[in-house]
Amino acid sequence: MAFLTKLKEIEKLIESRLNSVSSPKEFEELESEYFNRKGKFSLLMKELKDLPPDLRPEAGEKANILKRKLNGLFQEKALSFREKKVAGGLVDFSLPGHRSWEGKLHPLTQVLEGIVEIFCGMGFEVVGGPDIETNYYNFDALNFPRDHPARDMQDTFYLGRDLVLRTHTSPVQVRVFEKRKPPVKILAPGRVYRHEAINSRSYCLFYQVEGFYVDENVTFADLKGILITFAREFFGKEIELRFRASFFPFTEPSAEVDIRCIICKGKGCGLCKHRGWLEILGAGMIDPAVFEAVGYDPERYSGYAFGMGVDRIALLKYGIDDIRLFYENDIRFLRQF
Ligand code: DAH
Repeated sequence: MAFLTKLKEIEKLIESRLNSVSSPKEFEELESEYFNRKGKFSLLMKELKDLPPDLRPEAGEKANILKRKLNGLFQEKALSFREKKVAGGLVDFSLPGHRSWEGKLHPLTQVLEGIVEIFCGMGFEVVGGPDIETNYYNFDALNFPRDHPARDMQDTFYLGRDLVLRTHTSPVQVRVFEKRKPPVKILAPGRVYRHEAINSRSYCLFYQVEGFYVDENVTFADLKGILITFAREFFGKEIELRFRASFFPFTEPSAEVDIRCIICKGKGCGLCKHRGWLEILGAGMIDPAVFEAVGYDPERYSGYAFGMGVDRIALLKYGIDDIRLFYENDIRFLRQF
């Protein structure tokens, strides 16, 4: 058979064999069957040198063209196997999908931001203060007597003779008063720490939002107005408030503020311990002794202050009965907000 005919035949054969190859293994076998040193195509190429010299140039050229063509076809096929392997390894469309979770703010952060937003809408400015305080800012300047039980090791984490982890956000009042002249209308959110037995109602750290306003002629009516407005915005228009007389060293008069139990609406339930009311904050008119400590004239200025527990408000808002859940960072809990 003439060489050129053999060339045509082997071309057809290889092409059809290559087309029907379905696995990498088959592919490799086909490749070696034809292109190994003793392969069918290689052997055919060896016949070139036995051709009569006048036929050799044309035959050689045709053989080379075919060789290049087959080379290309084999490379293509090899590539298609590699692609399948990659796709097969990474993407299996028959598998159930993975659910992805969006990131969210911590429930306490959400509540804190909600509170801050309402007060900012009423003209309060947000400032921060240090978590580590001196006795002066945490107690002395706020008119705590030397022997006040809150200074006891029971409640306060002492970091040294004069350094404490702040037990409330009220020291920010003193820091602001020292730097500014009235009018000041400030909101100070932040972490506070107490050396208390940990249980479902109290934790060694929690969040407070302190608010205070000092100017000429600030009255208790202003305080009531701002707190009622806040409570209606935060808990809903129907919420009822109650101001109870209380005591804090840095306010006179002082009050604690309750809201109608949001679960039983006052009938009595486990959440409100059958009192019908839930305490949400402490407040009062800033004691003249505090003004004196910072050099404000108590004859000229008056002011109110309040401090609320963010954790407690979050517990009420979401109907949660254990404060520790906020600090355990259990993803199953956090995902629900
Ligand atoms: N600092 C108080 C506490 O942690 C809360 C408080 C009560 C803050 C009355 C105030 C206030 O600003 O006027 O228990």
